[in-house]
Amino acid sequence: MNNDILKSVAKAIVAKQKGVLAADESNPTIKKRFDSIKVESTEENRRRYREILITTEGIQNYIGGVILFDETLRQSTQDGTPFAQLLSSRGIVPGIKVDKGVKALALCPGDKISEGLDGLRDRLIEYKQLGAKFAKWRAVIEINEHNIPSAFGIRANAHVLARYAALCQELDIVPIVEPEVLMDGAHSIERCEVVTSKVLEAVFAELDAHHVLFEGMLLKPNMVISGVKCAQQGRVQQVAEATIRCLTRYVPAAVPGIVFLSGGQSAEDATDHLNAMNAMGPHPWQVSFSYGRALQAPVLEAWKGQEDNLVAAQKTLLKRCQLNGLARDGKYDRAMETAE
Ligand code: 13P
Repeated sequence: MNNDILKSVAKAIVAKQKGVLAADESNPTIKKRFDSIKVESTEENRRRYREILITTEGIQNYIGGVILFDETLRQSTQDGTPFAQLLSSRGIVPGIKVDKGVKALALCPGDKISEGLDGLRDRLIEYKQLGAKFAKWRAVIEINEHNIPSAFGIRANAHVLARYAALCQELDIVPIVEPEVLMDGAHSIERCEVVTSKVLEAVFAELDAHHVLFEGMLLKPNMVISGVKCAQQGRVQQVAEATIRCLTRYVPAAVPGIVFLSGGQSAEDATDHLNAMNAMGPHPWQVSFSYGRALQAPVLEAWKGQEDNLVAAQKTLLKRCQLNGLARDGKYDRAMETAE
């Protein structure tokens, strides 16, 4: 384990103005996204779409890392350049999603657990050879009205995240640790804060117990936000304050960066929330983004699977990256959404 490599890669991903493009949808998930724009999810369509994303000129100023899916890490541009090589040549760190998806936690009705630890060391060795310098593992914590998540469900997920993070660091791969408290459901913002607090407390206790180097990892949490079905939705400032309060209590200052997931928020909300949190800074860690849907949903709409829409799709992606880059400094304004 080389601490210097881990620290410098983690820092590069969250350099000034920069965040992460999460383009690591599994094949079932990208099929859902393609269905919404009536594009067939063939291997070539998936390759072409990801090529459009990562060849967009200018995103290297705002994107420090791109998370890829197994299939994508093995793919190349039309002219034969492997995607990982293309990203590295543009100063963007290539990363890989390594969990194998979310399942029910046995004998714990309602709790979930992510699979993929068996054989992970060998998979990481191969991913490193293919050019990945960081990895991501998503744990999912659902909130419901029947006391879910349970204390044990939280502990089990924290343990698995720490096992994954230690395996990554052993091979000088920066782990992005993602415990996602879902925004599905009718829970209040207060309940989200209580659950997120318990989750982060458990995650950092396990990371510490597994000797994970905090300086050589990134945290990818949810924002503290009301469930989508909750009648009372928090205002932007309320979300920002609750999220920063929670993170300040539970995330060690040694962690170089926090890269939020968007979790189903609109692209504009995700940018606005990030902006409000940075406007409250400075914070001990970089406060940044690792958005999937909040960067890509408008791009898919612009592209619609048509080559004729290539320029429009890339323009849309660059705009979202620029606006999130501004939000990294607390300099975004909603009025910029409609400005040309
Ligand atoms: P969303 O931003 O769409 O939540 O995706 C981020 C991600 O990588 C989920 O694992």
